[in-house]
Amino acid sequence: MPREWDAKTYDSLPLPHQQWGKRTLGRLHLTGGETVLDAGCGTGRDTAALLDLVPDGRVIGVDGSRRMLDQLRTKLADRTDRIEVVHADLTRPLPVSGQVDAITSVATFHWITDHAALFTNLARHLRPGGQFVAECGGQGNVARINAAVDEVLGKKADGMDDKDRVWYFAGVEETTERLQDAGFTGIEVSLLPDPARLEPGEQLWSYLATVVLGSHLDKLPESEHERFVRDVAARLPEPVVDYVRLNITARRA
Ligand SMILES: C[S@@+](CC[C@H](N)C(=O)[O-])C[C@H]1O[C@@H](n2cnc3c(N)ncnc32)[C@H](O)[C@@H]1O
Repeated sequence: MPREWDAKTYDSLPLPHQQWGKRTLGRLHLTGGETVLDAGCGTGRDTAALLDLVPDGRVIGVDGSRRMLDQLRTKLADRTDRIEVVHADLTRPLPVSGQVDAITSVATFHWITDHAALFTNLARHLRPGGQFVAECGGQGNVARINAAVDEVLGKKADGMDDKDRVWYFAGVEETTERLQDAGFTGIEVSLLPDPARLEPGEQLWSYLATVVLGSHLDKLPESEHERFVRDVAARLPEPVVDYVRLNITARRA
Protein backbone atom coordinates (compact mmCIF):
# COMPACT_ATOMS: atom_id res chain seq x y z
CA MET A 1 0.00 0.00 0.00
CA PRO A 2 1.29 3.55 -0.71
CA ARG A 3 2.73 5.71 2.07
CA GLU A 4 0.76 7.78 4.61
CA TRP A 5 0.44 11.57 4.36
CA ASP A 6 0.12 14.32 6.98
CA ALA A 7 -3.35 15.33 5.77
CA LYS A 8 -3.98 18.21 8.21
CA THR A 9 -0.70 19.99 7.46
CA TYR A 10 -1.28 19.31 3.74
CA ASP A 11 -4.60 21.18 3.84
CA SER A 12 -3.07 24.10 5.76
CA LEU A 13 -0.52 24.88 3.03
CA PRO A 14 -0.81 27.23 0.03
CA LEU A 15 -1.19 24.50 -2.59
CA PRO A 16 -0.71 25.19 -6.31
CA HIS A 17 -2.67 21.93 -6.56
CA GLN A 18 -5.83 24.06 -6.33
CA GLN A 19 -5.08 25.65 -9.71
CA TRP A 20 -3.95 22.32 -11.16
CA GLY A 21 -7.25 20.81 -10.04
CA LYS A 22 -9.32 23.60 -11.63
CA ARG A 23 -7.35 23.32 -14.85
CA THR A 24 -7.73 19.55 -14.99
CA LEU A 25 -11.44 19.41 -14.15
CA GLY A 26 -11.94 22.19 -16.72
CA ARG A 27 -11.00 19.70 -19.46
CA LEU A 28 -13.89 17.35 -18.57
CA HIS A 29 -17.10 17.45 -20.63
CA LEU A 30 -19.93 16.46 -18.30
CA THR A 31 -23.71 16.69 -18.54
CA GLY A 32 -24.38 16.13 -14.82
CA GLY A 33 -25.39 12.51 -14.44
CA GLU A 34 -22.02 10.81 -14.80
CA THR A 35 -20.01 8.70 -12.38
CA VAL A 36 -16.49 10.14 -12.06
CA LEU A 37 -13.51 8.54 -10.32
CA ASP A 38 -10.98 10.85 -8.63
CA ALA A 39 -7.73 8.83 -8.70
CA GLY A 40 -5.53 9.89 -5.77
CA CYS A 41 -8.27 12.11 -4.33
CA GLY A 42 -6.26 13.03 -1.22
CA THR A 43 -8.27 15.23 1.14
CA GLY A 44 -11.06 15.68 -1.40
CA ARG A 45 -10.77 19.19 -2.80
CA ASP A 46 -11.47 18.02 -6.36
CA THR A 47 -13.85 15.30 -5.18
CA ALA A 48 -16.05 18.12 -3.81
CA ALA A 49 -15.72 20.14 -7.02
CA LEU A 50 -16.70 17.05 -9.02
CA LEU A 51 -19.85 16.61 -6.90
CA ASP A 52 -20.92 20.07 -8.07
CA LEU A 53 -20.19 19.15 -11.70
CA VAL A 54 -22.37 16.00 -11.55
CA PRO A 55 -25.45 17.00 -9.47
CA ASP A 56 -27.27 13.87 -10.66
CA GLY A 57 -24.22 11.62 -10.66
CA ARG A 58 -21.71 10.06 -8.30
CA VAL A 59 -18.05 10.51 -7.41
CA ILE A 60 -15.68 7.76 -6.36
CA GLY A 61 -12.62 9.01 -4.46
CA VAL A 62 -9.73 6.54 -4.42
CA ASP A 63 -6.56 7.02 -2.40
CA GLY A 64 -3.85 4.92 -0.77
CA SER A 65 -3.53 7.05 2.39
CA ARG A 66 -6.03 6.43 5.21
CA ARG A 67 -5.19 9.77 6.80
CA MET A 68 -5.96 11.67 3.58
CA LEU A 69 -9.28 9.80 3.31
CA ASP A 70 -10.15 10.47 6.97
CA GLN A 71 -9.66 14.18 6.32
CA LEU A 72 -11.83 13.93 3.18
CA ARG A 73 -14.61 12.21 5.17
CA THR A 74 -14.49 14.95 7.82
CA LYS A 75 -14.58 17.76 5.26
CA LEU A 76 -17.33 16.22 3.15
CA ALA A 77 -19.35 14.71 6.04
CA ASP A 78 -22.57 16.40 4.92
CA ARG A 79 -22.21 15.29 1.28
CA THR A 80 -21.56 11.55 1.59
CA ASP A 81 -24.75 10.39 -0.16
CA ARG A 82 -23.21 10.64 -3.64
CA ILE A 83 -19.57 9.82 -2.72
CA GLU A 84 -17.90 6.44 -2.45
CA VAL A 85 -14.58 6.60 -0.60
CA VAL A 86 -12.15 3.80 -1.45
CA HIS A 87 -8.83 3.00 0.19
CA ALA A 88 -6.82 1.25 -2.53
CA ASP A 89 -3.63 1.17 -4.58
CA LEU A 90 -4.27 2.63 -8.05
CA THR A 91 -1.96 0.08 -9.70
CA ARG A 92 -4.12 -2.85 -8.54
CA PRO A 93 -7.71 -3.80 -9.46
CA LEU A 94 -9.97 -1.43 -7.51
CA PRO A 95 -12.82 -2.63 -5.29
CA VAL A 96 -15.42 -0.63 -7.25
CA SER A 97 -18.31 -2.15 -9.18
CA GLY A 98 -18.98 -1.41 -12.84
CA GLN A 99 -17.16 1.04 -15.07
CA VAL A 100 -17.12 4.81 -14.61
CA ASP A 101 -17.80 7.53 -17.21
CA ALA A 102 -14.67 9.55 -16.45
CA ILE A 103 -11.45 9.36 -14.48
CA THR A 104 -9.58 12.40 -13.29
CA SER A 105 -6.37 12.75 -11.28
CA VAL A 106 -4.32 15.63 -9.85
CA ALA A 107 -0.74 15.53 -8.54
CA THR A 108 -0.70 11.78 -8.00
CA PHE A 109 0.79 9.76 -10.88
CA HIS A 110 4.42 10.83 -10.27
CA TRP A 111 4.22 9.03 -6.90
CA ILE A 112 3.65 5.82 -8.85
CA THR A 113 6.65 4.40 -10.71
CA ASP A 114 4.86 1.75 -12.82
CA HIS A 115 2.77 3.81 -15.24
CA ALA A 116 2.07 0.83 -17.51
CA ALA A 117 0.34 -0.96 -14.61
CA LEU A 118 -1.39 2.27 -13.55
CA PHE A 119 -2.87 3.10 -16.97
CA THR A 120 -3.86 -0.51 -17.69
CA ASN A 121 -5.64 -0.69 -14.35
CA LEU A 122 -7.45 2.63 -14.79
CA ALA A 123 -8.51 1.70 -18.35
CA ARG A 124 -10.11 -1.45 -16.92
CA HIS A 125 -12.38 0.71 -14.72
CA LEU A 126 -13.34 3.22 -17.45
CA ARG A 127 -16.19 2.51 -19.89
CA PRO A 128 -15.47 2.55 -23.64
CA GLY A 129 -15.53 6.22 -24.75
CA GLY A 130 -15.01 7.37 -21.14
CA GLN A 131 -12.87 10.46 -20.48
CA PHE A 132 -9.46 10.44 -18.85
CA VAL A 133 -8.06 13.82 -17.73
CA ALA A 134 -5.08 13.97 -15.43
CA GLU A 135 -2.05 15.93 -14.42
CA CYS A 136 1.08 15.11 -12.44
CA GLY A 137 4.74 16.01 -12.17
CA GLY A 138 6.42 15.42 -15.55
CA GLN A 139 9.88 15.25 -17.08
CA GLY A 140 12.12 17.90 -15.47
CA ASN A 141 9.86 18.34 -12.44
CA VAL A 142 11.55 19.65 -9.27
CA ALA A 143 14.99 19.28 -10.89
CA ARG A 144 16.54 21.81 -8.51
CA ILE A 145 15.09 20.09 -5.47
CA ASN A 146 16.29 16.72 -6.79
CA ALA A 147 19.80 18.18 -7.20
CA ALA A 148 19.69 19.60 -3.67
CA VAL A 149 18.54 16.22 -2.28
CA ASP A 150 21.37 14.44 -4.08
CA GLU A 151 23.87 16.94 -2.69
CA VAL A 152 22.56 16.50 0.84
CA LEU A 153 22.51 12.71 0.52
CA GLY A 154 25.87 12.74 -1.28
CA LYS A 155 24.77 10.78 -4.31
CA LYS A 156 24.15 11.31 -7.98
CA ALA A 157 20.63 11.00 -9.43
CA ASP A 158 22.04 9.19 -12.49
CA GLY A 159 23.43 6.41 -10.36
CA MET A 160 20.18 5.90 -8.49
CA ASP A 161 18.79 2.36 -8.44
CA ASP A 162 15.14 1.85 -9.34
CA LYS A 163 14.50 0.68 -5.78
CA ASP A 164 15.64 4.12 -4.52
CA ARG A 165 13.25 6.02 -6.78
CA VAL A 166 10.55 7.90 -4.92
CA TRP A 167 9.16 9.77 -7.95
CA TYR A 168 8.71 9.08 -11.61
CA PHE A 169 8.53 12.14 -13.85
CA ALA A 170 7.41 10.83 -17.22
CA GLY A 171 7.82 12.56 -20.59
CA VAL A 172 5.35 13.12 -23.43
CA GLU A 173 6.34 10.34 -25.84
CA GLU A 174 6.62 7.52 -23.31
CA THR A 175 3.29 8.54 -21.74
CA THR A 176 1.58 8.66 -25.13
CA GLU A 177 2.88 5.18 -25.95
CA ARG A 178 1.82 3.75 -22.58
CA LEU A 179 -1.67 5.23 -22.94
CA GLN A 180 -1.99 3.69 -26.42
CA ASP A 181 -0.82 0.33 -25.08
CA ALA A 182 -3.35 0.54 -22.23
CA GLY A 183 -6.25 1.07 -24.68
CA PHE A 184 -6.68 4.85 -24.80
CA THR A 185 -7.35 6.95 -27.89
CA GLY A 186 -7.62 10.70 -28.72
CA ILE A 187 -4.49 11.16 -26.63
CA GLU A 188 -3.08 14.63 -25.89
CA VAL A 189 -0.07 14.90 -23.59
CA SER A 190 1.96 18.04 -22.88
CA LEU A 191 4.48 19.45 -20.40
CA LEU A 192 4.03 22.83 -18.70
CA PRO A 193 6.63 24.52 -16.45
CA ASP A 194 4.70 25.94 -13.47
CA PRO A 195 7.01 27.07 -10.62
CA ALA A 196 5.48 27.79 -7.19
CA ARG A 197 6.98 30.48 -4.93
CA LEU A 198 6.73 30.08 -1.14
CA GLU A 199 7.70 32.19 1.83
CA PRO A 200 11.24 31.37 2.93
CA GLY A 201 11.62 29.70 6.34
CA GLU A 202 8.75 27.90 8.09
CA GLN A 203 6.36 27.85 5.14
CA LEU A 204 8.99 26.49 2.73
CA TRP A 205 10.19 23.88 5.25
CA SER A 206 6.66 22.73 6.04
CA TYR A 207 5.77 22.57 2.34
CA LEU A 208 8.89 20.58 1.46
CA ALA A 209 8.40 18.17 4.37
CA THR A 210 4.67 17.59 3.76
CA VAL A 211 4.16 17.86 0.01
CA VAL A 212 7.51 17.16 -1.66
CA LEU A 213 9.96 15.19 0.49
CA GLY A 214 7.68 12.79 2.37
CA SER A 215 9.06 9.65 0.72
CA HIS A 216 12.64 10.76 1.39
CA LEU A 217 11.78 11.40 5.04
CA ASP A 218 10.18 7.95 5.35
CA LYS A 219 13.66 6.50 4.74
CA LEU A 220 15.35 8.60 7.43
CA PRO A 221 15.11 8.39 11.24
CA GLU A 222 12.72 11.02 12.60
CA SER A 223 15.55 12.73 14.48
CA GLU A 224 17.10 13.66 11.09
CA HIS A 225 13.95 14.98 9.39
CA GLU A 226 14.24 18.65 10.36
CA ARG A 227 17.93 18.84 9.49
CA PHE A 228 17.37 17.12 6.11
CA VAL A 229 14.54 19.46 5.08
CA ARG A 230 16.47 22.56 6.11
CA ASP A 231 19.62 21.38 4.33
CA VAL A 232 17.65 20.82 1.10
CA ALA A 233 15.93 24.22 1.43
CA ALA A 234 19.26 25.94 2.04
CA ARG A 235 20.59 24.61 -1.27
CA LEU A 236 17.73 26.07 -3.34
CA PRO A 237 18.69 29.31 -5.14
CA GLU A 238 15.27 30.80 -4.16
CA PRO A 239 12.19 29.60 -2.24
CA VAL A 240 10.67 28.16 -5.39
CA VAL A 241 9.49 24.64 -6.18
CA ASP A 242 10.36 24.23 -9.87
CA TYR A 243 7.30 22.26 -10.91
CA VAL A 244 6.84 20.96 -14.46
CA ARG A 245 3.38 19.49 -15.00
CA LEU A 246 2.46 16.64 -17.33
CA ASN A 247 -1.10 17.15 -18.63
CA ILE A 248 -3.03 14.20 -20.06
CA THR A 249 -6.33 14.13 -21.95
CA ALA A 250 -7.56 10.89 -23.54
CA ARG A 251 -10.54 8.59 -24.02
CA ARG A 252 -10.96 4.87 -23.50
CA ALA A 253 -11.09 3.26 -26.95
C1 LIG B 1 0.02 15.27 -3.66
S1 LIG B 1 -1.31 14.28 -3.14
C2 LIG B 1 -2.59 14.90 -4.24
C3 LIG B 1 -3.95 14.75 -3.62
C4 LIG B 1 -5.07 15.49 -4.35
N1 LIG B 1 -5.32 14.92 -5.67
C5 LIG B 1 -4.73 16.96 -4.46
O1 LIG B 1 -4.52 17.44 -5.59
O2 LIG B 1 -4.66 17.63 -3.43
C6 LIG B 1 -0.96 12.69 -3.85
C7 LIG B 1 -1.96 11.63 -3.43
O3 LIG B 1 -1.71 10.45 -4.17
C8 LIG B 1 -1.96 9.34 -3.33
N2 LIG B 1 -1.26 8.18 -3.89
C9 LIG B 1 0.05 8.08 -4.21
N3 LIG B 1 0.32 6.87 -4.70
C10 LIG B 1 -0.85 6.18 -4.72
C11 LIG B 1 -1.23 4.86 -5.12
N4 LIG B 1 -0.35 3.99 -5.64
N5 LIG B 1 -2.53 4.49 -4.99
C12 LIG B 1 -3.45 5.35 -4.46
N6 LIG B 1 -3.15 6.61 -4.08
C13 LIG B 1 -1.87 7.01 -4.19
C14 LIG B 1 -1.41 9.79 -1.99
O4 LIG B 1 -1.89 9.02 -0.92
C15 LIG B 1 -1.85 11.25 -1.95
O5 LIG B 1 -3.08 11.43 -1.32
